[in-house]
Amino acid sequence: MISRIGLLTSGGDAPGMNPCIRAVVRNAVNRGCKILGIESGYAGLLEQQMVELTLRSVSNIIQRGGTILKTSRCKEMFEREGRAKAGRILRGNEIDGLIVIGGDGSFHAAHLLYKEEGIKVIGLPGTIDNDLYGTDYTIGYDTAVNTALESIDKIRDTAASHDRLFLVEVMGRYAGFIAVEVGIAGGAEEILIPETPTSLPELCDRILAGIKKGKTSSIIVVAEGEETGNALTIADKIKERTGLDSRVCILGHIQRGGSPSANDRVLATKLGFHAVDALVGGKTDVMVGEVNSKIVLTPLQDTWTKRKEIDSQLLEIAKVMAL
Ligand code: F6P
Repeated sequence: MISRIGLLTSGGDAPGMNPCIRAVVRNAVNRGCKILGIESGYAGLLEQQMVELTLRSVSNIIQRGGTILKTSRCKEMFEREGRAKAGRILRGNEIDGLIVIGGDGSFHAAHLLYKEEGIKVIGLPGTIDNDLYGTDYTIGYDTAVNTALESIDKIRDTAASHDRLFLVEVMGRYAGFIAVEVGIAGGAEEILIPETPTSLPELCDRILAGIKKGKTSSIIVVAEGEETGNALTIADKIKERTGLDSRVCILGHIQRGGSPSANDRVLATKLGFHAVDALVGGKTDVMVGEVNSKIVLTPLQDTWTKRKEIDSQLLEIAKVMAL
């Protein structure tokens, strides 16, 4: 029987976390449950920073970026002692189940909380990186892509005016989902991602061939986790090999902010709603995601042990579009 639910956001914030909090709270109240908002992620849980959330505490947040609950990356939860303390605090506050909005690190901690402490947990995919198995899209990805794309469109103006080569670095420590999407949408000449090997000599040859074919400016999108190095390093290597000057723009945390897109708000609302239903229905240790427009529950462990593949056809299309 679930009557008191804890809710926290954890890891890097993502646009859409607020509409997700709103959906969880409203459906929890609808189901007759009390809902406690835990502030600053697991770090706040260990400090017992909790406040009851009501229907009205989540008014007017659907359009706001970030997370009203605040978030953190909490090292203590990676230790057995930290999780035991979290278990004691949750039991002490008579919390029957915990909903965690976050990415793989946050799910790892939630999975262990269930295994070691018997706390019922449900995960909701909240990360701009889109790198979780068990959902086609994570909450925040669509907004981050659109934010990065707006910048790339602006960079294209100045690149074309100066006949320049630009390297634009986008977020994605271990995954190239953002890079591929903005690379295609922004008409990039090259997309460099951690999932596929990059040959720098071949990259340089293609840039020079492009110039011969009449290209006067080019954009290379580099995912943060690209294995040959970051955008600045790659720019230096291109200079060494070809003599070409380039400019580097690192988009950074700008991609994590801003008002969530319509897609992210709708996804967040659906997943948040279903998370409460899943918990009340007796489910635990699963993430609620959407695959092929259907709500699916995936064991938390699978979300980081199984790999969500980049669509290789998209990469092939991008090559043709860059001809
Ligand atoms: O949340 C995911 C992410 O934005 C990654 O893309 C990025 O590598 C990382 O977080 C940055 O983390 P921090 O907020 O600790 O700088």
